Amino acid sequence: MKASSHAQTALITGASSGIGATYARRLAARGYDLLLVARNETRLRQLADELTAAHGVRVDLLSADLEQHADIEKVAARLRSDEQITLLVNSAGIALNGSLAEADLDSTHSLLQINLLALTMLASAAAVRFSLGGGGAIINIGSVVSLLPERFNAIYSASKAYVLSLSQSMHAELASHGVQVQVVLPGVTRTEIFERSGSSLAQIPPGMVMEVEDLVDAALRGFDQGELVTIPSLPDSSEWHALTQARLQLAPNLSHNQPAARYL
Ligand SMILES: NC(=O)c1ccc[n+]([C@@H]2O[C@H](COP(=O)([O-])OP(=O)(O)OC[C@H]3O[C@@H](n4cnc5c(N)ncnc54)[C@H](OP(=O)(O)O)[C@@H]3O)[C@@H](O)[C@H]2O)c1
Repeated sequence: MKASSHAQTALITGASSGIGATYARRLAARGYDLLLVARNETRLRQLADELTAAHGVRVDLLSADLEQHADIEKVAARLRSDEQITLLVNSAGIALNGSLAEADLDSTHSLLQINLLALTMLASAAAVRFSLGGGGAIINIGSVVSLLPERFNAIYSASKAYVLSLSQSMHAELASHGVQVQVVLPGVTRTEIFERSGSSLAQIPPGMVMEVEDLVDAALRGFDQGELVTIPSLPDSSEWHALTQARLQLAPNLSHNQPAARYL
């Protein structure tokens, strides 16, 4: 086992499985020390042992239930105080099944706590310290469903639209302070999220399902290229840029002192 040579630490939420665990493997291979956050300590410990043995990096665990305010605050406090942390990967998230009419209060509350509140407060804590230090990076895991809300569970899609919007605002606020922001929009990716939400990958055409290693490797290439929005599946990035351009062209006409003529 070689000693860690990298002074930088990545804090990864949702590190016990799927996309977060894959970020942990890839970032450890790049020499990052890690702080792994999730509820399942057994899985975090196994991953930590694997990565310490394979890469000689230091891996610490922080068990947290990101539905709980006290646990969100515990992780945020670590982000505020630990100067080794230079990268936050906000991957923890849950999905829901069914229509808006079928939504129940408990699972909706859980989703909003994890996908929105925890992600926001951790991003905020990182943003404050990173911008004071003039460096660091925040990666938020969104979803392509933010661009296709008509095609998926309403609450989940809206939560991911929030993540996209938040990340765009964060970039606008933080770029001049030397803080890199990236939002990753995965399509369907083979992880446990489907079974966890009572759904299944079985009905999805295999041509739409990406392996999680390919997803994270592509996302990290986008990160290395300094992309704000990375859509690993999208073959032609000019389509995304055209959409952004069209949106920004609305700007001069989105606030006037008179309603548009068609409303008069
Ligand atoms: N897979 C896809 O097709 C897909 C597509 C687009 C976007 N995404 C997004 O990718 C992110 C990662 O999802 P995944 O696909 O990797 O799913 P996953 O394999 O189910 O992983 C979810 C992670 O979130 C953690 N988590 C869940 N509830 C938590 C809680 N209450 N407190 C703390 N951690 C909690 C889980 O850890 P514990 O259970 O140990 O707490 C696990 O590590 C999510 O934000 C998801 O919305 C996934």
